Amino acid sequence: MSANSASRVPADPASQEAADSAPRVGVWLIGARGSVATTAVAGCAALTAGLHPPVGMVTETPAFAGCGLPPLSSLVFGGHDTVDCPLPKRAEALAAAGVLPHGLPHAVAADLAAADAEIRPGGPLPGDTRTQDELVDAFAADLRDFTRRHGLSRTVVVNVASTEPVPTGPDLPASSLYAAAALRAGCPYVNFTPSSGMHHPALAAEAAASGLPYAGRDGKTGQTLLRSVLGPMFAQRALAVRAWSGTNLLGGGDGAALADPAAAAAKNAGKERVLADTLGAVPEGEVHIDDVPALGDWKTAWDHIAFDGFLGARMVLQTTWQGCDSALAAPLVLDLARLLARAHEAGLSGPLTGLGFYFKDPHGDGPAALGEQYAQLTALAERLRGDGGTAADGAGGPGEAEGGAAL
Ligand SMILES: NC(=O)c1ccc[n+]([C@@H]2O[C@H](COP(=O)([O-])OP(=O)(O)OC[C@H]3O[C@@H](n4cnc5c(N)ncnc54)[C@H](O)[C@@H]3O)[C@@H](O)[C@H]2O)c1
Repeated sequence: MSANSASRVPADPASQEAADSAPRVGVWLIGARGSVATTAVAGCAALTAGLHPPVGMVTETPAFAGCGLPPLSSLVFGGHDTVDCPLPKRAEALAAAGVLPHGLPHAVAADLAAADAEIRPGGPLPGDTRTQDELVDAFAADLRDFTRRHGLSRTVVVNVASTEPVPTGPDLPASSLYAAAALRAGCPYVNFTPSSGMHHPALAAEAAASGLPYAGRDGKTGQTLLRSVLGPMFAQRALAVRAWSGTNLLGGGDGAALADPAAAAAKNAGKERVLADTLGAVPEGEVHIDDVPALGDWKTAWDHIAFDGFLGARMVLQTTWQGCDSALAAPLVLDLARLLARAHEAGLSGPLTGLGFYFKDPHGDGPAALGEQYAQLTALAERLRGDGGTAADGAGGPGEAEGGAAL
């Protein structure tokens, strides 16, 4: 049960007691009516109510015990979107498609309705006459209002809106307007998409001076996750990768957005980066993304890797990943919201390089291999634990750059 509603009792009374005394934390989802956002809200409520185990949530594993992460039951959801389909209806559609378990939307109806009541119109809307600065102001005002009305200790902004094309003109894309609003309202920020968000050069100085932690970009949930494991394997075994080609078939809102070649190019840049970083060079081969509406939220990602072994022996590895995109993404969104909230509480700021584990195109030049990224993540957990794990301890001075620390 998220703190949006107050009608159900978690299974474990001890965790209920801890949750009751924990400061409440806002999670503000840009793209709040989308598949990933809806799955995150419904999933958080299901886990809090003890209806499902936390499969897929890294922050629920023993490595994060005692780190002072906000309990799932302390999270309060809100967000921006440009469409008005009510969240309970969106959840019903996801259940009908088999993304959410049958009956879950009904079981967590109060939580979905509470989050729905906290979704504000996003932008820019068609015919919007507001200037970019007015839009940022309006978004920041929504964030401040949400944080104040709910008495939240802080609000983490998470971008899970449709992927944008790489911007070309002088105007900030919508994702960067929201990132600017997060800065203006003093909110930690996560970019789970390949869109510009906080990466836009026009925000660099403001982000650096803000004293806020942020992380991105583009959640690593399927094909790239596999690449970040297989790339290092080929490199470490001194096998020569000759070509690496990939095809993705998916539907849903993400599939439709990525049918735009400019949006797909933004996504593919991150997928290629992991190969360049782990193999030392981008091998021959391309990545294609095909919109197949009949597949809905299910993605098939096929990789074909041609490589040479000893004495030039030619070999091929093929992998087929069949995943439910939102079920892969939602637990990571919850992980990241909790980690950014705790990092903010501990006074960390700047790009959280210890979170490269979660992203296709992480900030900075940290390792690209999943194993090394996991080591960085657990080092960050250790640091958060060392900071005391409670709001009262408030260790780590504001403005301390995590990126500059030895993590
Ligand atoms: N495994 C995964 O699902 C995964 C992995 C990595 C990244 N992502 C990224 O997460 C994002 C969300 O994926 P999804 O499947 O939920 O997509 P979706 O199409 O279901 O949802 C996107 C939502 O964003 C909203 N939106 C569009 N423009 C907006 C704006 N200007 N302001 C506010 N809201 C806006 C849409 O109305 C929609 O509700 C995509 O960018 C996707 O690439 C997903």
